[in-house]
Amino acid sequence: MANIISYKDLGLVNTRDMFAKAMKGGYAIPAYNFNNMEQMQAIIMACVETKSPVVLQVSKGARAYANANILRNMARGAVEYAHELGCDIPIALHLDHGPNFEVAKDCIDNGFSSVMIDGSSLSYEDNIALTKKVVDYAHQFDVTVEAELGVLGGVEEDVAAEESKYTKPEEVIDFTSKTGCDSLAISIGTSHGRCKFTPEQCTRREDGTLVPPPLAFDVLEAIEKQLPGFPIVLHGSSSVPQIYVAEIEKYGGKIPNSVGIPEEQLRKAAKSAVCKINVDSDGRLAMTAAIRKHLVEHPEDFDPRQYLTDARAELVKMYADKNRNVFGSAGHALD
Ligand code: G3H
Ligand code: 13P
Ligand code: ZN
Repeated sequence: MANIISYKDLGLVNTRDMFAKAMKGGYAIPAYNFNNMEQMQAIIMACVETKSPVVLQVSKGARAYANANILRNMARGAVEYAHELGCDIPIALHLDHGPNFEVAKDCIDNGFSSVMIDGSSLSYEDNIALTKKVVDYAHQFDVTVEAELGVLGGVEEDVAAEESKYTKPEEVIDFTSKTGCDSLAISIGTSHGRCKFTPEQCTRREDGTLVPPPLAFDVLEAIEKQLPGFPIVLHGSSSVPQIYVAEIEKYGGKIPNSVGIPEEQLRKAAKSAVCKINVDSDGRLAMTAAIRKHLVEHPEDFDPRQYLTDARAELVKMYADKNRNVFGSAGHALD
């Protein structure tokens, strides 16, 4: 136990209390991915401005990119930064899509307050066994665990509209009681990345914009019926704002067929048992749009601070808007 760094000493919190309050209040906690300083600063600025609790998420790829020790210290810095900005919002540091026990343990031992163990690609039995192993370890340190049941698609895997990959409501009681997980990520039609549906899965408006098929709210309701009051998580929930897509393309980018989850659907989900909503791609789009625009409009600039200032400002605007108008988490930091 000597080498364990407790998240409590870093000023972080686990997700238990956050989710209980979100469930009661009919809103969802934003879970924003970060892998660099400007993203972290923007998330904290927006969440302090809107007085929202937040989950700072780190993927396996982010750990590889930014270094686990650096990211942990950035999360500690995030807590101090929020304090300096004038509001001690609750901040959880969460491992996103933990691939195995070893990575989850490493995060638990090194200051994370919450971990996801993603056994969704395993058999049902193996998913239970792996999730339980992580839960048993995590709970010794009061770290909360998110598990996943059902398979989320990216369009490249062609599973976005496949009903058979949705979470099966008849499995959720057995899965959560056997594993002891604290929250459950489900599959109801969301998917990762900027192309959540193929054009063929969408209907096309007269102006050419794509309208995606609705999420499977019937599956969500059936899950809620099985597990009343249990925190549900939605991955793959970027709305892929078309304004950023257009801006990126206007300034030289090529990202065809970009389509996300409509905000009204996320608003509806946030009012249900969905307590945590994951957003990564929208941050990438907002940043890239702002950087491309800046560099085209200011060809003489070569100091990264010049274009990253614009990118960070755009991120703050976008996260604050989501907290206020989509997830409903604004104003709930001090509940
Ligand atoms: O759910 C996946 C996240 O968007 C993380 O993506 O592995 O590229 O960091 P990444
Ligand atoms: P998006 O690709 O929709 O932003 O999803 C992010 C996510 O689910 C991170 O776990
Ligand atoms: Zn995800």
